[in-house]
Amino acid sequence: MNPAPLKILMVASEAVPFAKTGGLADMVGSLSRELARLGHGIRLVIPRYGNISEVATGLQEWKTLNLPTPDGPIQTVIERGSIVDHTLSADQLVQVLAVRHDPYFARTGLYQEGGVDYPDNLERFAFFSRAVPELIPLLRETSQWVPDVLHAHDWQAALSVVYLKTLYRGRRFVGDLGSLFTVHNMGYQGLFPASAYPKTGLGPEYFTPKTLEFHGALSLLKGGLVFADFLSTTSPTYSRDIQTAEFGFGLEGVLRERKDRLSGVLNGIDIDTWNPADDPHVADGYTASDLKGKRACKASLQRELGLPIEEVPLIAIISRLTEQKGLDLVITIVPELMESNIQMAILGSGAPSLEAEFKSLQGRYPKKIGLRIEYDEGLAHRIMAGSDLFLMPSRYEPCGLTELYAMRYGTVPIVRRTGGLADTVNPYSPRAVHSGQATGFRFGETHSEDLLTTTLFALHIYQRKGEWQSLMRAGMQKEMSWAKPAEAYTELYRRIREG
Ligand code: ADP
Ligand code: GLC
Repeated sequence: MNPAPLKILMVASEAVPFAKTGGLADMVGSLSRELARLGHGIRLVIPRYGNISEVATGLQEWKTLNLPTPDGPIQTVIERGSIVDHTLSADQLVQVLAVRHDPYFARTGLYQEGGVDYPDNLERFAFFSRAVPELIPLLRETSQWVPDVLHAHDWQAALSVVYLKTLYRGRRFVGDLGSLFTVHNMGYQGLFPASAYPKTGLGPEYFTPKTLEFHGALSLLKGGLVFADFLSTTSPTYSRDIQTAEFGFGLEGVLRERKDRLSGVLNGIDIDTWNPADDPHVADGYTASDLKGKRACKASLQRELGLPIEEVPLIAIISRLTEQKGLDLVITIVPELMESNIQMAILGSGAPSLEAEFKSLQGRYPKKIGLRIEYDEGLAHRIMAGSDLFLMPSRYEPCGLTELYAMRYGTVPIVRRTGGLADTVNPYSPRAVHSGQATGFRFGETHSEDLLTTTLFALHIYQRKGEWQSLMRAGMQKEMSWAKPAEAYTELYRRIREG
């Protein structure tokens, strides 16, 4: 039944456990490992950021490459290592190739610092992407490893796909390589002024409205969408959403034109890292059939956040603080929510204005709101484990992993019905809850009134212990591993390889 394994060259600007700013890193790290588990050969190309710890990753200098750039060749070191995963056997290896050029990548942030993008992001990610076609012959010469498909993610890796079809066209083993480009978020396009276009190293013939030009500017994302053989996004609903003006960020026409080659594959999650039965970050373990430990997790979280240890509903938020996530709606309704006997646990960082508003709310309700403006992986686990409800009122959401983590931890999500949130959360209805199908609550419009009504309704259902436990258990038992999505990507890869 299992046909010949494939060789996949995966390219992304972040991947767990090396570097992460959001769900992209979770997705790339877990998908790579699951594909390896299926027997495929994976080579994962990432930038070698400065804050990657050698001890943790075991990356070691492997080869040097002279990368062609518009300013002449630049020498880069390729470091090599692998993702350590004790559930994989020795031959199920994800080999990692890290492109090292310290002037570009040895910085505090991945793409920005203090909320400001690095001014040379185009040079940085053109350089990174250029390493990909140059690495392919090296892999062949050193280990007879010839990829079947290139799988690139988001604008930072988009040029790798473009280069195959342009600068490397006709080059054996490189120019004929099939490609899949996955968009994780249409809101991040890699837009640069037209005057910067020569930094891509591409000729003027590719700066047209049919190729990389977007209303007079350069769009790297558009390059990926136009040049890849096949496209995907991270949920079926989002793959349809982005073909409309509301969610396409101006690229809906390009996506509609290619809709026969666009597919939506719902993300899975890493069920070993996110496992309430056995999570080293949390106070106690629990399962769907024995929920007792969740109480200890809640008390311990309340203590950690300086909240009174009381049996009241605890509502959580863990998020990048950006407009996408609809947190302004939450800010609007907090004063009304605070009239109920509840607590909130909020972890996030990002837009200074949102950070300031949450701080001010916390100052107003210090006994009811626990707030951490930072990025803290361990605390994210403890909040998932210790809370009762999870708020995610996103304006749009390609997939969303945090609502999945919440469900897995028996923390019932309240989401807006959009993109992946519509595909992952099965809404409450008396019938759905009694048949054990309901996993959360949904509302329709981006209106704070709708969010408030739905949250108050959820708090009302919280008092019905039987129904609430049914919601918790249904979420915890939901199948959300990478097994099925990895099969779906395998099918896409085969289709691409067969042309
Ligand atoms: P997005 O990729 O749009 O940010 P996802 O829900 O797909 O949304 O993934 C977000 C990821 O980032 C999750 O792994 C989540 O736990 C993590 N995360 C977001 N903010 C924080 C934070 N402040 N501290 C720790 N983890 C965070
Ligand atoms: C993006 C999206 C998020 C998705 C993640 C991983 O960051 O915003 O919805 O879950 O990518 O695919």
